[in-house]
Amino acid sequence: MDLLQQLITHSSVRSFTAEKLSPTLRQNLLKAAQSGSSSNFVQAYSIIEVSDPQKLEAIERLANGIGYIKEAGAFYIFVADLNKHAQILQYHQHSLEALENEEAFTVAVVDATIAAQTMSVYAESLGLGICYIGGIRNDLFQIAELLKLPKYTFPLFGLSVGYPDHENEVKPRLPIADIHHMDSYHPITIEQITEYDKVMKSYYAKRSSNPSETDWSTNMLTHFYEPRRSHTKAFLKEQGFVF
Ligand SMILES: Cc1cc2nc3c(=O)[nH]c(=O)nc-3n(C[C@H](O)[C@H](O)[C@H](O)COP(=O)(O)O)c2cc1C
Repeated sequence: MDLLQQLITHSSVRSFTAEKLSPTLRQNLLKAAQSGSSSNFVQAYSIIEVSDPQKLEAIERLANGIGYIKEAGAFYIFVADLNKHAQILQYHQHSLEALENEEAFTVAVVDATIAAQTMSVYAESLGLGICYIGGIRNDLFQIAELLKLPKYTFPLFGLSVGYPDHENEVKPRLPIADIHHMDSYHPITIEQITEYDKVMKSYYAKRSSNPSETDWSTNMLTHFYEPRRSHTKAFLKEQGFVF
């Protein structure tokens, strides 16, 4: 399949067969992840592959009991990781200040995300399915304890990878005109949002799994109705980040 065709037919997979990924395949997924660009080549991420059934069970509970963590062919947690760099600075008895701010954190988040998406695209090119799991951030302190995360690290999301048992319909994206800006930013209009809502209302009503009477802006209103995961700031502080 042409790569563009693969990308535009992506949908998250939330049901996997029992088949686990072979060691070679898991190694190749890691190679793919590592091949992405990295700001100033800091490589500020780590990928924790979780295979211990008890840990998978605990992570699944943390992510609201969804079934597609334990059942995935492999499960990874992507960590924004400045601990490696802290060790270099400490070795040279240098201040860690430059690792602790928003800029360093942003770099690590971007690096980790590029690695995850590169792994995802490669996995999908092999016919595997993927699903990102932000639910691991429901309790950052617990996940950090479970994975023994040191200072200057932050667990961003999980990634389930496996052989699809069921594939969802492709979700219609915002029209390109709503995300593409030429030369300067132009805010979206309520009319544009209403047009997209019509498309999404029809998608949500007709989709095969979990059909519902909603649209995109209603979902966004619900999602951003009040601040979520308010323990994040305290966790970042605990990890050594000073914002
Ligand atoms: C960082 C991130 C976290 C996500 N967390 C979850 C999650 O916890 N559970 C889940 O079912 N899907 C999760 N998703 C998948 C999104 O819901 C999905 O990508 C989005 O609805 C678009 O659907 P599609 O991927 O099928 O096109 C996450 C996606 C991203 C990028």
